[in-house]
Amino acid sequence: MTREAAEKSVSDGSNTKRTAGTPTSRPGGESGGGTTPPVLEAVEVTKIYRMGPTEIRALDSLSLSIYKGELLTVMGPSGSGKTTLLNVLGCLDVPDSGKVLLDGEDVTRLPEKARTRIRLRKIGFIFQQFYLIPTLTALENVMLPMLEAGLSRKRAAERGRSLLEEVGMGDRADHRPSQMSGGEQQRTAIARALANNPEIILADEPTGELDTTNAGMVIDLLRRLTAEEGITVVVVTHDPRVAEKGTRTINMVDGRVV
Ligand SMILES: Nc1ncnc2c1ncn2[C@@H]1O[C@H](COP(=O)(O)OP(=O)(O)O)[C@@H](O)[C@H]1O
Ligand SMILES: [Mg+2]
Repeated sequence: MTREAAEKSVSDGSNTKRTAGTPTSRPGGESGGGTTPPVLEAVEVTKIYRMGPTEIRALDSLSLSIYKGELLTVMGPSGSGKTTLLNVLGCLDVPDSGKVLLDGEDVTRLPEKARTRIRLRKIGFIFQQFYLIPTLTALENVMLPMLEAGLSRKRAAERGRSLLEEVGMGDRADHRPSQMSGGEQQRTAIARALANNPEIILADEPTGELDTTNAGMVIDLLRRLTAEEGITVVVVTHDPRVAEKGTRTINMVDGRVV
């Protein structure tokens, strides 16, 4: 299943092109005759961390609908629950109550294995610290999720090269992370996030380690993915200049959207 999807994305020649999406300018708004269903939805999600006798409500009955082609930016003070929200939306973490719907399917309480499969196929993650594997080249890092999804080495390498070209790293395919700047590492991480043709990219402070120029380049790249390829992107950021490139911004305080 995963394998076929991944193979198809290579063999039909659409490896770096997706059907152009229709960015939703008015999320949830009526367009013509009906309302477009959200790609990703949190419904009254609560996540509590218990530290001895203390309870921390990292997410407090939070509801949020995210639409295809949006670049949603999430702002809020440290500790307001932004990372927890991404983890719950991305099937990395299970809420205590409430549910998460991905393409209308309730993924909240699926068995771990099923959630892992969905995550691998539909969601790409980007992190502040890049998390590239230091002993592997850019190309090998980008190939990893494809190999995990069952693609052959040859096809993974082909698609990996074209993704690196898409993010402007075509001439750095054989460099290791230590030989790249922060901006180049993050662009490689974006190529890796795109490896299995995800519908959704979740990015946790992706420009936090970058200077202004590189931060701008990364956010412009994410913007292009939403506008041209209909990928839905959620970006947690502290940087108002990053947030203003999004199509919509939400603010979090104490586990809630305010
Ligand atoms: N694994 C954990 N164990 C206990 N508390 C946690 C854990 N992860 C997050 N928290 C707490 O949950 C709250 C929200 O954290 P987080 O989602 O990381 O916020 P943000 O990303 O906005 O800084 C914070 O009070 C944090 O200390
Ligand atoms: Mg965080």
